[in-house]
Amino acid sequence: MFEPTILEDLLIMKKVMIQDMPKHIGETVKIGAWLANKRSSGKIAFLQLRDGSGFVQGVVVKEEVGEEVFATAKGLTQETSMYITGEVKADERSSFGCELVVTGIEVLHAATDFPITPKEHGPEFLMDNRHLWLRSRKQHAVMKIRNEIIRATYEFFNQNGFTKMDPPILTGSAPEGTSELFHTKYFDEDAYLSQSGQLYMEAAAMALGKVFSFGPTFRAEKSKTRRHLIEFWMIEPEMAFVEFEENLEVQEQYVAHIVQSVLANCKLDLERLGRDTSTLENIKAPFPRISYDDAIKLLHEQGFDDIEWGDDFGAPHETAIANSFDKPVFITCYPVGIKPFYMQPHPERDDVVLCADLIAPEGYGEIIGGSERIHDYELLKARLEEHNLSLDAYAWYLELRKQGSVPHSGFGLGLERTVAWISGTEHIRETIPFPRLLNRLYP
Ligand code: 4AD
Repeated sequence: MFEPTILEDLLIMKKVMIQDMPKHIGETVKIGAWLANKRSSGKIAFLQLRDGSGFVQGVVVKEEVGEEVFATAKGLTQETSMYITGEVKADERSSFGCELVVTGIEVLHAATDFPITPKEHGPEFLMDNRHLWLRSRKQHAVMKIRNEIIRATYEFFNQNGFTKMDPPILTGSAPEGTSELFHTKYFDEDAYLSQSGQLYMEAAAMALGKVFSFGPTFRAEKSKTRRHLIEFWMIEPEMAFVEFEENLEVQEQYVAHIVQSVLANCKLDLERLGRDTSTLENIKAPFPRISYDDAIKLLHEQGFDDIEWGDDFGAPHETAIANSFDKPVFITCYPVGIKPFYMQPHPERDDVVLCADLIAPEGYGEIIGGSERIHDYELLKARLEEHNLSLDAYAWYLELRKQGSVPHSGFGLGLERTVAWISGTEHIRETIPFPRLLNRLYP
């Protein structure tokens, strides 16, 4: 793990961050903090302090600090900001291993009527107050896990010879079908917000071999489910000279790496969320694979009569399939008719393509979609025509198949669904700082 703060002696200007306090046991330190919660009696006050890096308890003893400081402590309201000084004392009982024995308090700003009190609030209220809700312990823990997944992503791809490339967000063509596009004007032309960087990443892979992108993605999906966001973040690797099965091997290694990184580096956060980590410890490569054909059979055996060969899976189907395995499972080789135009046909069958979706355990749904891409010029051109896509708009993409075309594959991992699964968060809206949902553009 990275050492947390090079900034400690510089930027914070001699103020210690809560996460670094265990290194300062026995010393007097100054921290900048907000009051998260408070309990007090006539003689002693317990302040739950947070500074963004962590939470720590401050203990204010009237006899030690005197009337004035004690009165200040007792009068503190939730979310009041302050500089606070004290001695760091080892404390076995605290999750952090220490507490702050307070000697002085300098209030910076007294907060009034903070709406997110420790009592229960409904989701709409919390979403309306997302700008403040982010300060709560649970949201803090989810954001730390999100950050660790991003850090581990860069680590994995950098260690494995990938180059980060950034595809455009304003685009003229649509990789995943045209029905879910956000339309905008680009001066006098029509443009769309990116729903996947894949096509550009294919061009990038022909230039740099193994590439990955990490950026926002927009889908005008009218879905109001616990798995759908309108704006979400996707990690999209693309690899030249990599065929279908090798692509799956990269995916399972990558997913195992991020899960193990979160287990190693976010222990406190997982604990705070009450996440049962026994199901995560087992997440190591290889992952099981089941063909689409066999997945349909399995569903029929389990009594699902609402799905036939050729249909796409809904959330209950994915959950039932996932529950048959104790690790993420690849569903491979879907019917050509329900997948995008660019997927390579199966070498022995023309009714299925070389693609796979990775389904997370415990009902969190599909976290990865990926495939081998068509590298033959004539076949790709025919597929574009079948899908009524403009050959002009895709001319540059087709041309890649005329200039040293090679087998290549890639995938897209949805960050928020992955955060939801690993952190055990029921609804995807809590896995991104400011979710864009159907009917929600604020805050
Ligand atoms: O399966 P999808 O649509 O795949 C693609 O976009 C490919 N072009 C990626 C590639 O091969 N480079 O989306 C990939 C993943 C899904 O598995 C899911 O995790 C996530 O993106 N995703 C969503 N996450 C949140 N809200 C939505 N509306 C999502 N739609 C897809």
